[in-house]
Amino acid sequence: MNLILLGPPGVGKGTQAKLLIEKFGIPQISTGDILRAAVKEQTPMGVEAKRYMDSGALVPDSVVIGIVEERLAQADCAPGFILDGFPRTVAQADALKGVLAGLKRGIDHVISLSVDSQELLTRLTGRRACAKCGAVYHVKFAPAKLEGICDACGGALFQREDDKEETIMKRLTVYEEQTAPLISYYRDASLLRSVNGLGTVDGVQAEILAQIQG
Ligand code: AP5
Ligand code: ZN
Repeated sequence: MNLILLGPPGVGKGTQAKLLIEKFGIPQISTGDILRAAVKEQTPMGVEAKRYMDSGALVPDSVVIGIVEERLAQADCAPGFILDGFPRTVAQADALKGVLAGLKRGIDHVISLSVDSQELLTRLTGRRACAKCGAVYHVKFAPAKLEGICDACGGALFQREDDKEETIMKRLTVYEEQTAPLISYYRDASLLRSVNGLGTVDGVQAEILAQIQG
């Protein structure tokens, strides 16, 4: 199963990807997570990417296309993959098509998640992540048992640099301008499966499964 999770910042792509990994036993490829790891390690790519990410802009296509091309060629992607946060521009979608054709593979479904912008803002401003294991929480919708401490590993929870309100507004504008055109791109290719992202995490997951298995 080769899947793309498409949707605006905070819609729940990462949350849903984690459940799909368990269900299908295929890896999640999150360009955001890969870039944040590079920033943390201060690799040359990470140092370059940080400037864009902190301001809410997209990292240049050439950088992220290279990351995904390399990742898709790895053995654990053979049974399938879940792309989360990629592609984000028409140029990235075109490049992905070329890379997959070279691997004699294709996309099965593009799951397009949506919620209203007020909900996106609430989800993003309340998101917290574990510095140690990466688990994602929400102060209201998915709180940790002990405030500021990860249930899974005891690590400290932090707020992402780009989850400040001003940067969120910029990310939402960038999404509308550069990523939303992919909805019609994939609808035209008959790959689009639209899912309402409002509701419980399990409810959204059930709707995704109904769309891809139905
Ligand atoms: P990236 O990390 O991809 O961020 P994003 O797309 O903005 O998405 P998010 O991670 O913010 O949200 P999500 O949809 O995964 O939501 P989540 O599940 O966490 O990208 C970050 C930056 O990296 C970009 O701005 C760019 O600079 C760069 N980048 C990455 N990919 C790139 C690319 N391809 N090209 C160029 N640049 C790239 O959920 C959010 C919150 O809501 C959580 O707290 C969660 O607990 C909660 N929640 C989830 N589901 C529900 C629910 N059903 N009900 C209530 N709360 C919920
Ligand atoms: Zn943790």
